[in-house]
Amino acid sequence: MKTPTNPTAAAPANSPNPDPWEAAYLSFETPEQEVEKFMTRLRKLGAHQWSKDAQIVELFCGRGSGLHALHRLGFTRIEGVDLSPKLLAEYRGPGNIECCDCRQLPFPDASRDIAIVQGGLHHLPTLPQDLELTLAQVHRVLRPGGRFVVVEPWLTPFLRFVHVVARNPVARRLSKKLDALQIMIEHEIRTYEQWLGQSELIWGLLDAQFQTEVCQKSRGKLMYVGRRA
Ligand SMILES: C[S@@+](CC[C@H](N)C(=O)[O-])C[C@H]1O[C@@H](n2cnc3c(N)ncnc32)[C@H](O)[C@@H]1O
Repeated sequence: MKTPTNPTAAAPANSPNPDPWEAAYLSFETPEQEVEKFMTRLRKLGAHQWSKDAQIVELFCGRGSGLHALHRLGFTRIEGVDLSPKLLAEYRGPGNIECCDCRQLPFPDASRDIAIVQGGLHHLPTLPQDLELTLAQVHRVLRPGGRFVVVEPWLTPFLRFVHVVARNPVARRLSKKLDALQIMIEHEIRTYEQWLGQSELIWGLLDAQFQTEVCQKSRGKLMYVGRRA
């Protein structure tokens, strides 16, 4: 999934002409389905081993479903940042939220225990520069030993298959979810393809900044946890 084509220009919540990507994103899953999905992912990534009072920031947090998942898993010191005021305005929960660019985080050095990104890095406009900036910011704000958790699309055989199905007009008519997925892909095609086409470079940058704790590349996703040295 992606970012509004120009997040800073995202249509306001009451706009009669909503951003098509945001409209598809909001209809892809219900918030409840998204929260359940994030809870499952976080458990797979080892969240049960993380301290419940860890200071956690979710980057590219969108409407905050990841924050709800963290809250339900018992984490108490949570916050989210995103570039879209419209998506942030959808969040109703106990975490702090802030509108900012993840390439320039408004947090002091070594001030957070865990940073999480779920489906945000592949929206960065320019690789490798924007990814280098974002990873440097994450490294800066994490405490030594802090965790960087990443869930992003990854070009596995399963994802290639999903792409073929999502382009099929009959499949799109039969499944609103596939249709929403294809609309999102079409609106984010440049950054999405840029991301999927540079897996070695992306992996090299992650590996250079963090010590790998978890790494799974399956079912079209990279599921990664790295520790800051
Ligand atoms: C696909 S959404 C993912 C949202 C959430 N993580 C999820 O999975 O539901 C990508 C988000 O990245 C945000 N975004 C894009 N570029 C950003 C940037 N440079 N800094 C902060 N947020 C950004 C968009 O506003 C959007 O909410």
